[in-house]
Amino acid sequence: MGSVIVAMSMSLDGFVAGLNISVESPMGVGGMRLHQWLFDAPAGGVDAVVAREMFESTGAVLLGKRTFDVGLDVWGDTPYPVPCFVLTHEARGPLAKPSGTFTFVNDGIECALRQAKAAAAEKNVMLMGADVARQCLRAGFVDEMLIQLVPVLLGDGLRLFEHLGTELVELEGMQVIESPAVTHLRFRPVKEI
Ligand SMILES: NC(=O)c1ccc[n+]([C@@H]2O[C@H](COP(=O)([O-])OP(=O)(O)OC[C@H]3O[C@@H](n4cnc5c(N)ncnc54)[C@H](OP(=O)(O)O)[C@@H]3O)[C@@H](O)[C@H]2O)c1
Repeated sequence: MGSVIVAMSMSLDGFVAGLNISVESPMGVGGMRLHQWLFDAPAGGVDAVVAREMFESTGAVLLGKRTFDVGLDVWGDTPYPVPCFVLTHEARGPLAKPSGTFTFVNDGIECALRQAKAAAAEKNVMLMGADVARQCLRAGFVDEMLIQLVPVLLGDGLRLFEHLGTELVELEGMQVIESPAVTHLRFRPVKEI
Protein backbone atom coordinates (compact mmCIF):
# COMPACT_ATOMS: atom_id res chain seq x y z
CA MET A 1 0.00 0.00 0.00
CA GLY A 2 1.42 3.40 -0.95
CA SER A 3 1.26 6.65 1.00
CA VAL A 4 -0.84 9.79 0.67
CA ILE A 5 1.61 12.60 -0.04
CA VAL A 6 1.39 16.38 0.01
CA ALA A 7 4.29 17.73 -2.04
CA MET A 8 4.34 21.48 -2.49
CA SER A 9 6.80 24.17 -3.38
CA MET A 10 6.50 26.91 -0.78
CA SER A 11 8.02 30.35 -0.36
CA LEU A 12 9.92 31.05 2.83
CA ASP A 13 6.98 33.18 3.96
CA GLY A 14 4.59 30.25 3.55
CA PHE A 15 2.84 30.73 0.20
CA VAL A 16 2.23 27.94 -2.33
CA ALA A 17 0.93 30.35 -5.00
CA GLY A 18 0.80 34.13 -5.45
CA LEU A 19 -2.17 36.46 -5.66
CA ASN A 20 -4.64 36.56 -8.56
CA ILE A 21 -4.51 32.93 -9.67
CA SER A 22 -6.03 32.47 -13.14
CA VAL A 23 -5.71 30.37 -16.28
CA GLU A 24 -3.33 33.04 -17.60
CA SER A 25 -1.34 32.96 -14.35
CA PRO A 26 -1.82 29.46 -12.83
CA MET A 27 0.54 30.07 -9.91
CA GLY A 28 -0.54 33.68 -9.34
CA VAL A 29 1.67 36.77 -9.18
CA GLY A 30 5.30 35.67 -8.80
CA GLY A 31 4.20 32.10 -8.08
CA MET A 32 6.06 30.44 -10.96
CA ARG A 33 9.25 31.30 -9.08
CA LEU A 34 8.30 28.50 -6.67
CA HIS A 35 8.69 25.85 -9.38
CA GLN A 36 11.94 27.24 -10.80
CA TRP A 37 14.00 24.68 -8.84
CA LEU A 38 12.17 21.97 -10.76
CA PHE A 39 12.61 23.44 -14.23
CA ASP A 40 16.24 24.47 -13.66
CA ALA A 41 17.34 21.34 -11.77
CA PRO A 42 20.83 20.37 -13.01
CA ALA A 43 20.85 16.79 -14.36
CA GLY A 44 22.16 14.39 -11.75
CA GLY A 45 21.88 16.96 -8.94
CA VAL A 46 19.87 16.42 -5.76
CA ASP A 47 16.87 18.41 -7.02
CA ALA A 48 16.59 16.24 -10.13
CA VAL A 49 16.88 13.12 -7.97
CA VAL A 50 14.07 14.31 -5.65
CA ALA A 51 11.88 15.23 -8.62
CA ARG A 52 12.42 11.86 -10.29
CA GLU A 53 11.67 9.98 -7.10
CA MET A 54 8.40 11.92 -6.70
CA PHE A 55 7.47 11.23 -10.29
CA GLU A 56 8.29 7.53 -10.24
CA SER A 57 6.60 6.79 -6.90
CA THR A 58 3.29 8.44 -7.84
CA GLY A 59 0.54 6.05 -8.87
CA ALA A 60 -2.44 8.42 -8.85
CA VAL A 61 -3.18 12.09 -8.30
CA LEU A 62 -5.99 13.66 -6.30
CA LEU A 63 -6.35 17.30 -7.24
CA GLY A 64 -8.69 20.18 -6.56
CA LYS A 65 -10.83 21.58 -9.34
CA ARG A 66 -9.00 24.90 -9.26
CA THR A 67 -5.61 23.28 -9.79
CA PHE A 68 -7.19 21.33 -12.65
CA ASP A 69 -8.76 24.44 -14.20
CA VAL A 70 -5.60 26.53 -14.15
CA GLY A 71 -3.16 23.70 -14.80
CA LEU A 72 -4.69 21.88 -17.75
CA ASP A 73 -3.32 24.16 -20.50
CA VAL A 74 0.13 24.24 -18.92
CA TRP A 75 0.36 20.45 -18.60
CA GLY A 76 -1.31 19.76 -21.96
CA ASP A 77 -1.82 16.32 -20.41
CA THR A 78 -2.21 14.90 -16.89
CA PRO A 79 0.28 16.39 -14.36
CA TYR A 80 1.76 12.92 -13.78
CA PRO A 81 1.35 9.99 -16.22
CA VAL A 82 -1.18 8.26 -13.98
CA PRO A 83 -4.95 8.27 -13.29
CA CYS A 84 -6.02 11.66 -11.89
CA PHE A 85 -9.09 12.31 -9.72
CA VAL A 86 -10.51 15.84 -9.60
CA LEU A 87 -12.51 16.71 -6.49
CA THR A 88 -15.30 19.02 -7.63
CA HIS A 89 -18.92 20.03 -7.25
CA GLU A 90 -19.23 20.01 -11.02
CA ALA A 91 -20.70 16.84 -12.54
CA ARG A 92 -18.89 15.90 -15.75
CA GLY A 93 -17.67 12.84 -17.56
CA PRO A 94 -14.07 11.60 -17.64
CA LEU A 95 -11.49 13.49 -19.69
CA ALA A 96 -8.93 11.25 -21.38
CA LYS A 97 -5.46 12.64 -22.04
CA PRO A 98 -2.41 10.93 -23.59
CA SER A 99 -0.88 9.87 -20.24
CA GLY A 100 -3.98 9.24 -18.17
CA THR A 101 -7.60 10.10 -17.53
CA PHE A 102 -9.11 12.79 -15.33
CA THR A 103 -12.08 11.42 -13.38
CA PHE A 104 -14.32 13.99 -11.71
CA VAL A 105 -15.53 13.04 -8.25
CA ASN A 106 -18.55 14.72 -6.62
CA ASP A 107 -18.92 12.54 -3.52
CA GLY A 108 -16.42 14.21 -1.22
CA ILE A 109 -12.81 13.82 -0.24
CA GLU A 110 -13.06 10.33 1.27
CA CYS A 111 -14.63 8.87 -1.84
CA ALA A 112 -12.08 10.63 -4.07
CA LEU A 113 -9.19 9.39 -1.97
CA ARG A 114 -10.55 5.85 -1.96
CA GLN A 115 -10.67 5.84 -5.77
CA ALA A 116 -7.20 7.36 -6.04
CA LYS A 117 -5.73 4.78 -3.64
CA ALA A 118 -7.29 1.93 -5.56
CA ALA A 119 -5.85 3.28 -8.82
CA ALA A 120 -2.41 3.86 -7.29
CA ALA A 121 -2.23 0.30 -5.92
CA GLU A 122 1.16 -0.02 -4.18
CA LYS A 123 2.32 3.42 -5.31
CA ASN A 124 1.63 6.83 -3.72
CA VAL A 125 -1.34 9.17 -4.10
CA MET A 126 -0.11 12.70 -4.76
CA LEU A 127 -2.35 15.53 -3.51
CA MET A 128 -2.42 18.74 -5.56
CA GLY A 129 -4.11 21.98 -4.50
CA ALA A 130 -3.98 23.70 -1.11
CA ASP A 131 -7.67 23.28 -0.34
CA VAL A 132 -7.63 19.55 -1.06
CA ALA A 133 -4.36 19.06 0.85
CA ARG A 134 -5.79 20.94 3.86
CA GLN A 135 -8.93 18.79 3.90
CA CYS A 136 -6.81 15.65 3.90
CA LEU A 137 -4.55 17.05 6.64
CA ARG A 138 -7.55 17.94 8.81
CA ALA A 139 -9.04 14.49 8.34
CA GLY A 140 -5.74 12.75 9.19
CA PHE A 141 -5.42 11.19 5.72
CA VAL A 142 -1.91 12.51 4.97
CA ASP A 143 0.99 10.10 5.48
CA GLU A 144 3.83 12.38 4.38
CA MET A 145 4.46 16.02 3.57
CA LEU A 146 7.24 17.06 1.27
CA ILE A 147 7.73 20.82 1.46
CA GLN A 148 10.09 22.29 -1.08
CA LEU A 149 11.07 25.47 0.70
CA VAL A 150 12.19 28.09 -1.80
CA PRO A 151 14.36 31.00 -0.63
CA VAL A 152 12.03 33.76 -1.79
CA LEU A 153 9.45 35.97 -0.07
CA LEU A 154 6.24 36.19 -2.10
CA GLY A 155 4.63 38.69 0.27
CA ASP A 156 1.06 37.56 -0.33
CA GLY A 157 -0.91 34.77 -1.94
CA LEU A 158 -2.27 31.33 -1.13
CA ARG A 159 -1.15 29.58 2.05
CA LEU A 160 -1.17 25.84 2.61
CA PHE A 161 -1.01 26.06 6.38
CA GLU A 162 -4.14 27.99 7.35
CA HIS A 163 -7.71 27.11 8.29
CA LEU A 164 -6.42 24.03 10.06
CA GLY A 165 -7.96 24.82 13.44
CA THR A 166 -6.02 25.55 16.62
CA GLU A 167 -5.16 22.03 17.70
CA LEU A 168 -1.49 21.20 17.45
CA VAL A 169 -0.55 19.12 14.45
CA GLU A 170 2.61 17.29 15.45
CA LEU A 171 5.03 16.42 12.68
CA GLU A 172 7.96 14.08 12.75
CA GLY A 173 10.92 15.29 10.69
CA MET A 174 12.05 12.52 8.32
CA GLN A 175 14.54 14.07 5.93
CA VAL A 176 16.21 17.31 4.88
CA ILE A 177 17.89 17.60 1.49
CA GLU A 178 19.47 20.92 0.61
CA SER A 179 20.52 22.51 -2.64
CA PRO A 180 21.23 26.18 -3.39
CA ALA A 181 17.82 26.43 -5.09
CA VAL A 182 15.54 24.75 -2.56
CA THR A 183 15.43 22.84 0.71
CA HIS A 184 13.42 19.62 0.57
CA LEU A 185 11.78 18.98 3.95
CA ARG A 186 10.04 15.69 4.53
CA PHE A 187 7.65 15.30 7.47
CA ARG A 188 5.25 12.67 8.73
CA PRO A 189 2.15 13.86 10.62
CA VAL A 190 2.07 12.06 13.95
CA LYS A 191 -1.21 10.17 14.03
CA GLU A 192 -2.96 9.41 17.29
CA ILE A 193 -3.44 5.68 17.83
N1 LIG B 1 3.10 25.19 -4.88
C1 LIG B 1 2.79 24.02 -5.39
O1 LIG B 1 3.61 23.08 -5.41
C2 LIG B 1 1.41 23.80 -5.95
C3 LIG B 1 0.97 22.51 -6.23
C4 LIG B 1 -0.32 22.33 -6.72
C5 LIG B 1 -1.14 23.42 -6.94
N2 LIG B 1 -0.68 24.67 -6.68
C6 LIG B 1 -1.50 25.86 -6.90
O2 LIG B 1 -2.56 25.86 -5.95
C7 LIG B 1 -3.62 26.68 -6.48
C8 LIG B 1 -4.95 25.96 -6.33
O3 LIG B 1 -5.16 25.55 -4.99
P1 LIG B 1 -6.53 25.94 -4.23
O4 LIG B 1 -6.33 25.60 -2.81
O5 LIG B 1 -6.92 27.32 -4.57
O6 LIG B 1 -7.61 25.01 -4.93
P2 LIG B 1 -7.72 23.41 -5.19
O7 LIG B 1 -7.48 22.66 -3.93
O8 LIG B 1 -6.90 23.06 -6.38
O9 LIG B 1 -9.25 23.32 -5.65
C9 LIG B 1 -10.27 23.78 -4.82
C10 LIG B 1 -11.59 23.47 -5.49
O10 LIG B 1 -11.81 22.05 -5.55
C11 LIG B 1 -13.19 21.78 -5.38
N3 LIG B 1 -13.36 21.07 -4.10
C12 LIG B 1 -12.52 21.10 -3.02
N4 LIG B 1 -12.98 20.32 -2.03
C13 LIG B 1 -14.15 19.79 -2.46
C14 LIG B 1 -15.09 18.88 -1.90
N5 LIG B 1 -14.92 18.37 -0.67
N6 LIG B 1 -16.17 18.53 -2.65
C15 LIG B 1 -16.33 19.00 -3.90
N7 LIG B 1 -15.46 19.87 -4.50
C16 LIG B 1 -14.39 20.25 -3.79
C17 LIG B 1 -13.90 23.13 -5.33
O11 LIG B 1 -14.15 23.52 -6.69
P3 LIG B 1 -15.61 23.54 -7.40
O12 LIG B 1 -16.60 23.98 -6.34
O13 LIG B 1 -15.41 24.50 -8.50
O14 LIG B 1 -15.86 22.18 -7.88
C18 LIG B 1 -12.82 24.01 -4.76
O15 LIG B 1 -13.01 25.38 -5.04
C19 LIG B 1 -3.27 26.94 -7.93
O16 LIG B 1 -2.71 28.22 -8.05
C20 LIG B 1 -2.22 25.88 -8.24
O17 LIG B 1 -1.37 26.27 -9.28
C21 LIG B 1 0.57 24.89 -6.16
